[in-house]
Amino acid sequence: MTNPSNSTYSFSPTGEKFQLPSPEDYSTELERLKDVINHQRSLGREIVVVMGLGFVGAVMAAVVADAEDGKGNPTKFVIGMQRPSTRSFWKIPLMNLGRPPVSSEDPEVAPMIDRCVNKKKTLTATFTYDALKFAEVVIVDIQCDYLKESLGDVRDGRAEMKALEESFEIIAQNISPQTLVLIETTVAPGTTEQIAYPIMKKVFKKRGLKVDPLLAHSFERVMPGKNYVASIRDFWRVCSGINEEATRRVVKFLKEVIHTDKFPLTVLDRPIESETAKIVENSFRATILAFMDEWSLFAEQNGVDLIKVINAIKVRPTHNNMIFPGPGIGGYCLPKDGGLGLWAYRHVHGFEDDIFKITPLAIDINDTRALHVAQLTRDALRNMGRPLASAEILVLGASYREDVGDTRYSGSELIVRRLTEMGAELRVHDPYVLHWWEFERQDDYPASSYSLKRFFRGQEKLKDLRVEQDLKKALHGADAAILAVRHKHYLNLDPDEVVQNAGGPIAVVDCFGILDDHKIRRYFELGCEVKGLGRGHVKRIKDQVHLKMQSVE
Ligand SMILES: NC(=O)c1ccc[n+]([C@@H]2O[C@H](COP(=O)([O-])OP(=O)(O)OC[C@H]3O[C@@H](n4cnc5c(N)ncnc54)[C@H](O)[C@@H]3O)[C@@H](O)[C@H]2O)c1
Repeated sequence: MTNPSNSTYSFSPTGEKFQLPSPEDYSTELERLKDVINHQRSLGREIVVVMGLGFVGAVMAAVVADAEDGKGNPTKFVIGMQRPSTRSFWKIPLMNLGRPPVSSEDPEVAPMIDRCVNKKKTLTATFTYDALKFAEVVIVDIQCDYLKESLGDVRDGRAEMKALEESFEIIAQNISPQTLVLIETTVAPGTTEQIAYPIMKKVFKKRGLKVDPLLAHSFERVMPGKNYVASIRDFWRVCSGINEEATRRVVKFLKEVIHTDKFPLTVLDRPIESETAKIVENSFRATILAFMDEWSLFAEQNGVDLIKVINAIKVRPTHNNMIFPGPGIGGYCLPKDGGLGLWAYRHVHGFEDDIFKITPLAIDINDTRALHVAQLTRDALRNMGRPLASAEILVLGASYREDVGDTRYSGSELIVRRLTEMGAELRVHDPYVLHWWEFERQDDYPASSYSLKRFFRGQEKLKDLRVEQDLKKALHGADAAILAVRHKHYLNLDPDEVVQNAGGPIAVVDCFGILDDHKIRRYFELGCEVKGLGRGHVKRIKDQVHLKMQSVE
């Protein structure tokens, strides 16, 4: 009996172990696919291959597999295709059991995948590129990352095109010339026409095919959280094809799988316009968030509560989308998408001048905003006579936004890294996050060259950082608590209980306008110190409390 080593296994995040396919498994898998596809074709279903079973692809695959005609009959058979790497192969067997390869707060995700795999039998997953040979439609949902070489300087970076470029080549080698290739990946504007098209055209030529590949672009607006599925299926889409036929095909396809009757499609003239729409959309959002950073500092230094100021302004309907940024802007998209635009201008379109000012500045501000939280924590502890280097600091919230378990590029990660560098002992609580992989697997997650670890010293011990689920336990013996995310669990914490659980007065740092004035006052009365991003008025409350105490004495 053979005894395969661990390198021939792929481990799911929860530790389940799956053996990687051997060379012989490919022919067996091809036979399995042929059988199932013949059957599905006999039922009149279109074959759709989704490449990349990540956060987007896994759920998009299920949305397509769940699509039905007016009579309730499934119209598509979907093959989720994923590379059989040790890192990602586990997604395939998991999906084939009807279990989602992504964790989500949306109660629709798991039943939908289970329904499509096990009941409707309209969804399967595979590791073989042979699946592409049978596709009428291929959806590309693989990543296109932006690698930053410095912290706080997005210009010092580049788009990581390798996986995407390879996939265009593989697709062109395998598909039939009539296959629609729909790129959903957020790409550097120009990618569909100037990178995908020439790569695929060359391969087509080698295959003796004279036609143009039918390429289209339509970006995803997926929102992690409880409306994950709806943010794909019940949401507005923008699309564009490389020529008339590609446009006709992409419009037809999206109308069949997405609720375009309620959320009408916007069809743009060229793919570069659809690609640019995605980048501008996210750069706009990154910019309005970054804009508040300087006013947040202004507020802290001049006794102003920025939260009240924003609420006063938002009464005006023209300004009601103003948002307070919290400790940095995370998630997968906002920190990188503007970078793809800058990179494209020079490296895809060949311009030498530097037209971008606001977009890179916004990303740089957002990428470093969390560092200020470490300063506030240091100052709050100093005011209590406690040196930061010997303090136990609790970070409340690991994810990048409220009530989700997504930790990608969260402000909290930077807070933990900076405070650790400064010598503090860190602990973390988050009801939505079981494992904070950015720390537990910081040598290879999200990839060896991507960990933010590389910008800080003294990070080794953070491998042992575990997320505490019990808030009382997490608070016990803490010198400081940082309210880093607006999770619903933190909005109504009672100051008396917090101090009681901590075992005495602590420093409280509010990064998200969570504390109202009543609570801030109570913390001071209990002997705590309070600081907050954009919350300059806390000093006024502190003085009032101390004055009152003195007059009582
Ligand atoms: N995650 C979000 O919240 C979100 C929202 C909107 C848009 N997007 C965009 O969607 C795209 C995909 O993002 P994601 O979060 O799903 O990424 P991801 O990293 O979770 O998933 C990508 C998957 O593609 C696989 N892959 C890579 N090369 C492959 C190949 N040659 N063949 C088959 N599979 C391959 C990877 O192994 C991985 O499983 C990105 O462009 C992203 O910017 C993401």
